[in-house]
Amino acid sequence: MQLNLSLAEDRKLNLQNEIFERIRLMILDGRIKPGEALPATRTMSTQLQVSRNTMTIAYDRLRAEGYIETRRSVGTFVSSQLPDSALYTPAAASSTSAAHHKSAELMLAAPPLRSQAIVNPHHNKLTVDFWVGRPDPHSFPLKAWSQLIAKRLLAPGSNLTEYRDPCGVVEFREQIARHVRRARGIIATRDDVFVIGGCQDGLNLICRLLVKEGTSAVIETPCYQGAAFLFESFRAKLHPVPVDEKGIRVDQLPGVKNAIVYVTPSHQYPLGVTLSLERRLELLNWASQTGSYIVEDDYDSDFRYHGSPLTALKGLDRSDRVIYLGTFSKCMGAGLRLGYAILPSAMRDAGRHMKALMNNGQPWLEQAALSDFMSNGSYVHHLRRIRRRYMARRDALLEALNRHFGECRTLGAPAGMHLAWQLPDKLPAAADIARAALARGVGVYTPTSGGSTFLGEDLRGDRIVILGFSSLTEKEIETGIARLAVAIKDMMS
Ligand SMILES: Cc1ncc(COP(=O)(O)O)c(C=O)c1O
Repeated sequence: MQLNLSLAEDRKLNLQNEIFERIRLMILDGRIKPGEALPATRTMSTQLQVSRNTMTIAYDRLRAEGYIETRRSVGTFVSSQLPDSALYTPAAASSTSAAHHKSAELMLAAPPLRSQAIVNPHHNKLTVDFWVGRPDPHSFPLKAWSQLIAKRLLAPGSNLTEYRDPCGVVEFREQIARHVRRARGIIATRDDVFVIGGCQDGLNLICRLLVKEGTSAVIETPCYQGAAFLFESFRAKLHPVPVDEKGIRVDQLPGVKNAIVYVTPSHQYPLGVTLSLERRLELLNWASQTGSYIVEDDYDSDFRYHGSPLTALKGLDRSDRVIYLGTFSKCMGAGLRLGYAILPSAMRDAGRHMKALMNNGQPWLEQAALSDFMSNGSYVHHLRRIRRRYMARRDALLEALNRHFGECRTLGAPAGMHLAWQLPDKLPAAADIARAALARGVGVYTPTSGGSTFLGEDLRGDRIVILGFSSLTEKEIETGIARLAVAIKDMMS
């Protein structure tokens, strides 16, 4: 058996990454189908005239990211549940119509489009789902919200019929500026605040302002897929920098200038670590020396369970190099599609134009209602309430893990809505555990299936399980971990 694959002479990636990327694309565009067998590493190394070790590394990475699976004594196969199979461009799907081929050609001229795993495809089949980043549906302040919406609808004036400032409702922006000053140490006025449709929308705004083909985009590895894939779609040149227990390794920042740096300093996605103060200052210094901009994605910083949060990078920024992104998706609900960007002053005018070009602004009604919710004190009260609730769930998860598996090493527990469990050597690989859990009606995730991506040589994803806890009750958490323990025991016996 052979794969129809040859390597380009003018390779931009190293050998194992090139092979990984080629095979990944063949899987994603359907040239090799889920369940289909792949040649052995020995066969491939002979075919491509590369070392067996190179082939093994490429296969290991495909396996760690969930594209392939190995069945002991049988062989290697394309995974039946691909991490982003549902997300790939339809351009590559086979069709005989001429029109389709034409659009396929157009789309193929663009880089392969992938999008982040944001909805769990298996959710309905699961009894307990540790999917990441989901607020508790019962905690949404429905009564207060419907009253505020109704009140605004009684006297909408021309707000429902007229265009307004694309940057957002003024009083809402004022409330946001007050909130980030108190909660994140950011000094901003309402003019600095842009209302956006969540962090993802903000990233698009930033890319449209700053990124063109070849722009250096420095990202964490592992990195939130929504950011990495977006930069990829703009044909940025990605520079992955590893993350350790203190956050992004600033000593490994690349020697580039005028870059865009994407980081999640409060609670790194997906490892959950917090960027240390020392590294924050070094990163800011690097950005100012290299003329780069830092994008601070502060997606879940409202949830810190121990100590006070570190001041946001934006709050420490003396050179106006940080673009801050905040979202109401985690603390209120992702269905609202509301968030905010705080831009450096040099980008404000361009930002206003771009916001108008993109969408003429977000819906008025929700902005107005949320502004009222914040100004009457309900928002702070709501945050306090859900923080307590999530902390109890986090504790229940840690307790259940330790009880069923012995002392567990986790990352990210002091904050956020998920944690990363570092598997002990004696347990199987994360993707195998996730598959066994799924068969028992429990959703647990690898970094890749949970919406992040490892780049470069980093293979740690194989040994990490991601567990979201915010939308599950303590009882559900206990049931889920107990079932997971049985699933793993069965696998190992
Ligand atoms: C790191 C990170 N950034 C951004 C987002 C998306 O946020 P939003 O709903 O505000 O677009 C998510 C969603 O889970 C996330 O995990």
